[in-house]
Amino acid sequence: YTAELDASDIEKGTYPHYMLKEIDEQPFVMRNIIKHYQNEDGNLKLDDDIRQAMKETDRIYIVACGTSYNAGLVGKQLIENIAKVPVEVHIASEFVYNMPLLSEKPLFIFISQSGETADSRAVLVAVKKLGHKALTITNVPGSTLSREANYTLNLYAGPEIAVASTKAYTAQIAVLAILAVDAARAQGIELDFNPLQELAIVANAIETLTDQKETMERVAQEYLSETRNAFFIGRAVDYFVCLEGSLKLKEISYIQAEGFAGGELKHGTIALIEDGTPVIALSTQEHVDLSIRGNVKEVAARGANTCVISTEATKDEGDRIVLPEVHEYLTPLVSVVPLQLIAYYAALHRDCDVDKPRNLAKSVTVE
Ligand code: G6P
Repeated sequence: YTAELDASDIEKGTYPHYMLKEIDEQPFVMRNIIKHYQNEDGNLKLDDDIRQAMKETDRIYIVACGTSYNAGLVGKQLIENIAKVPVEVHIASEFVYNMPLLSEKPLFIFISQSGETADSRAVLVAVKKLGHKALTITNVPGSTLSREANYTLNLYAGPEIAVASTKAYTAQIAVLAILAVDAARAQGIELDFNPLQELAIVANAIETLTDQKETMERVAQEYLSETRNAFFIGRAVDYFVCLEGSLKLKEISYIQAEGFAGGELKHGTIALIEDGTPVIALSTQEHVDLSIRGNVKEVAARGANTCVISTEATKDEGDRIVLPEVHEYLTPLVSVVPLQLIAYYAALHRDCDVDKPRNLAKSVTVE
């Protein structure tokens, strides 16, 4: 027993928790992905089979659970914008019992850090029976989902130990961006977006944020030390990142946290706002900046304690965190980092077991 503890302490190095170590590893993971998906000539390196499958399909079905599902939402946006192929994103446990109408030439993409999630595997088994092709994006080469799918893309994120997923999420989005660009090029779509170059910029941007831990800790203490609940609001891709930010916070700090689409507040959820309710707003895109700031004013007028996270392009006086600029396609890789750190410090200051939250498992191999 003691020996086991010692071994894991050594792996953690000087870090108090795996989660913090894994958040800090994200720039390294980005650079590792660049290395593994790059040819000697600097171009993208992807299997011809995968390129062909992406070219042939008329609709992609992303299937995943938890954080991997949240990465899939961002992936949909990337594939549709870059490769112009329609994408649906499904929760695996729902898909099994409520299969949507499939297109003529569907391609399934399973996103799974562990490659062992039973709910996702059940869908893979079902769609293989129907004769459809599947690609697994996973951190574990040789895992069940990788072995049973036709194709695999690896995340190269290194072992993720903390139950709350961090570096796997950003790795999944990075690999989905690479896949989208490769598919676009295969179709002859002209792009002025080089994912490998842009991911290198992302790696530096994440480093800038992980160097601001004191700011993140202060925000966590100021907004989340006493509260029972917390809301994250955003629009378009920021909304998807809000879903991941709220999942991080709820799973490790046990604060009831929800991500909401800014425009939906008025249709019901604004009723939840009370004096002092923390509302964290993401505004990283110029085309929705005005609308989300309108939502921030609405909740502030009802007593919410608001915290805005913006970028160099959208920043305004009073914003708590300003993110370094990266390519707009890759903003989620940067905007999620403060949310991961805020969740970490909130859990830490509430004396929660950060790496092993109650009732949760790292890999769920039962239905
Ligand atoms: C569990 C973990 C989550 C993870 C989900 C999906 O619930 O606690 O962090 O996102 O499973 O896991 P997968 O390995 O399929 O990505």
